[in-house]
Order: sequence, then structure tokens, then C-alpha cells
Amino acid sequence: MAHLFNRNVLVGVSGGIAAYKSAELVRQLQELGASVRVIMTRGAREFITPLTLQALSGNPVHTELLDPEAELGMSHIELARWADVLLIAPATADLLARLATGRADDLLTTVALATAAPLVLAPAMNQQMWRDRATAANVATLAARGCKLVGPASGEQACGDVGPGRMVEPPVIAAAVAGIFENGLLDGRRVVITAGPTREALDPVRYISNHSSGKMGYALAQAAVDAGARTTLVSGPVTLPAPDHVRVLQVESACEMLDTCLELLPECDIFIACAAVADYRPGAVAQQKIKKGPDEINLKLVRNPDIVATVAAGRERPFTVGFAAETHELLKHAREKMLRKGLDMIVANDVSDKSIGFNSDNNEATVLWPDGEQVLALSGKGAMARQIIQLIAQRLASGEH
Ligand code: PMT
Repeated sequence: MAHLFNRNVLVGVSGGIAAYKSAELVRQLQELGASVRVIMTRGAREFITPLTLQALSGNPVHTELLDPEAELGMSHIELARWADVLLIAPATADLLARLATGRADDLLTTVALATAAPLVLAPAMNQQMWRDRATAANVATLAARGCKLVGPASGEQACGDVGPGRMVEPPVIAAAVAGIFENGLLDGRRVVITAGPTREALDPVRYISNHSSGKMGYALAQAAVDAGARTTLVSGPVTLPAPDHVRVLQVESACEMLDTCLELLPECDIFIACAAVADYRPGAVAQQKIKKGPDEINLKLVRNPDIVATVAAGRERPFTVGFAAETHELLKHAREKMLRKGLDMIVANDVSDKSIGFNSDNNEATVLWPDGEQVLALSGKGAMARQIIQLIAQRLASGEH
């Protein structure tokens, strides 16, 4: 059964009588596990009050584009990045026309342009408006751009007409939204992903570590499982909940992470090293807490094993993907790293920018492989993870690795 756990669903409600069903739709999406935020057009607010959708979604409803206060809370660009999917239900004939022509004349159409998330539309209108050639052309344009249409259904309409144009029922729309995350790209594949930081103990109470939150690696695990892969996360210490249907093996140090990964290798087709592994560890771990003493002490550090390079050097190696966390000369260093570690692919991200990379919700990266590259624009880590999984599936399918 498809679900929406860990998914951010942005629901756009436009001004049609079916707007009253949006309340039930918000509930259905939440029942599948989604976090929901709502944007209402001016027309939608004639049919149902923002208060209803605010109470149900548990979040303030967004209505205005040019409202400084609302922009301070969560700007239209932040909303666009927050969304893993933008669902517009009901989508009126007017809204479809505005989307088809790329207008940005209210909050909803602006966010639709500004988001990299997939767009799902549940049209609802009078049957004659639906049959009109202008609407048909707009629908064809939107479908050709990759928008997913759910409905409309046929039957008796609020205006008394009978025919196509009724918004399909909320459970069907919610299931269709959940379905878009299950793409079967990695059906039957076994994926191992490292995530989070490692901790290198100095004594029983202190360690050396870094700011990795695990968000990128956990988003990759979610995207891999949605793509049909049997997915295992080898995770350093983080505070994130385990994604559904993902096996999580907790580790602390780089050496433990390596041992766990090596045990998993016989059953691994794709290995993704997203963890921020400490390059060095204390040469000796004090058995008791190190006491405060002289003004200066020296720590002797020794090199940790390189996990992803060890995996890539194996005889029966999986398709191996690394990450490069760089602060300068991003692509040059990333390409060198890919060659030096013998990887099939590397995701280069700039960690000098605090709004992306370590412990942020967004990321921006370039994916490199031996004879190509693709830029992944700034987006939420969920959306980025899905693009990375798609690129891995494409490279595997091409057989050119
Ligand atoms: O966890 P988040 O807060 O979401 O942040 C995500 C991230 C910034 C940690 C992630 O996007 C990222 O860039 N991960 C790699 C971080 C890193 O250690 O980069 P590196 O350039 O030092 O290492 C290169 C590659 O070698 C990485 O795939 C790393 O996992 C791997 N490595 C490094 C050292 C080591 N001893 N063993 C390894 O396997």
C-alpha cells in the first residue's frame, strides 16, 4: 500500500464548488502519513474558509503573494522548496489555463512555477467547460510537461448537468499522490546507503565528529525504497526517524561503519556513501575520562579506512556512488575524488554554503560520472534524492559503467 510518510504535500485549492471536498482530502493525505500545507486562491475562499483547512492541516493557510507578514513566516520560495509534491484539487478551468500559460499572478500559480516538485492536478468544472477545446488544449499542454492528472470523474454535477468534470473522490486523489513516489526504477535491486556522521571516541565521554544530520542519506533511503529497492541504511548517530520499510543498522565509528558495510556487500547491487565519515580517529581511546591538566595537550590522530574506496576496490563490486563535500573548486576536486576512489558516480555538494549541505533541509549539487555530469538545482533533500536515484537507475540501465 502506497504511503506518504515523510512527505510534504502542498495542497492548492482553487475556486470551485468541489473546494468543500478539500477538507476531506487534507485528512486523507494525513492518514497516509503526509505533512500538509495549504494554499488557497481568492476564489477558493468564497467556497470554504481558510480556518477549516488550517484546523485540519495544523498549519497556517497561505493565501497572498504580496503579503510581507506571510512572506516573513514562510516565503513563497520556501513553500515551493518545502513541497515534495504540489497537488491542486480542485483545479478549475481558469487555473488550468493560467498554469498552461505559465502565469504567476497569484500565490498558487507562482509556487507552481517556482517548485521543482511534481505537479498533480485534480480538475473539477462543468462538463461543457471540461469538453471545451481551450480546456482540452490546456490539459494536453500540462500533461506534455509531465503534470499528472487525476480525473475528472463523470456523473451528476452540482449545477445539474451530467457528464465529465466532477472532482474524483479524496481517497482516490490521495492514493494517486502516494503512487507517484513509487516508480519501480530500482525494482528488485539491493541498495546500501551510509548516512550521518561518525563519532570517534577520545575517552568514555568525548568524541570527534561533524555536523552531518543524516537528512540527505535518509532522503536517499526513502527514494530508493520508493523506487522498489530493498534498502539498508548504515547510519551514524542521528535523531531522524527510520524511513518506513528501510532496514537501519546503527553504528558509531568509521571502523564500525566499514565492518557493517563489508558484511552487507555480498547482498548489495548499489552502494551510496553519503555519510560524513571522520577521516581521522584518536590513536588511542583513553579508558577513563581525560582529566583537565596542562594548558595544552596533543592529540595523536590516525587515518581511518576509506569505506567507499574499499567497497569500490572489491572484486564483485556494486555500482558505487560517493559524495564530495567541498568548500572550493567543487567540480575539480569531486572529479579527482571519483577517479581516486574508483567510483561510478559522485555527487558534488558545496558545504561552504550553510543553506545547503550539512544539516540543512535543502541541497544543490552536480552529479558527475566518468563521461558526463548533471546539475541538480537547489531543492529540498527529498526532491534531490529522487533525482539522484533516477540518475543511478539511468546509468545502470545504460550498462555504461
Ligand atoms: O547529513 P546531512 O546534514 O544531510 O548533510 C549531507 C552531507 C553534506 C553530509 C552529504 O551531502 C555529503 O556531502 N556527504 C559526504 C561527506 C564527506 O565526508 O565528504 P568527503 O568529500 O570527505 O568524502 C568523499 C566520499 O568518501 C564520501 O562519499 C564519503 O562518505 C566517503 N568516505 C570518506 C572518508 C572515509 N573514511 N570513508 C568514506 O567512505
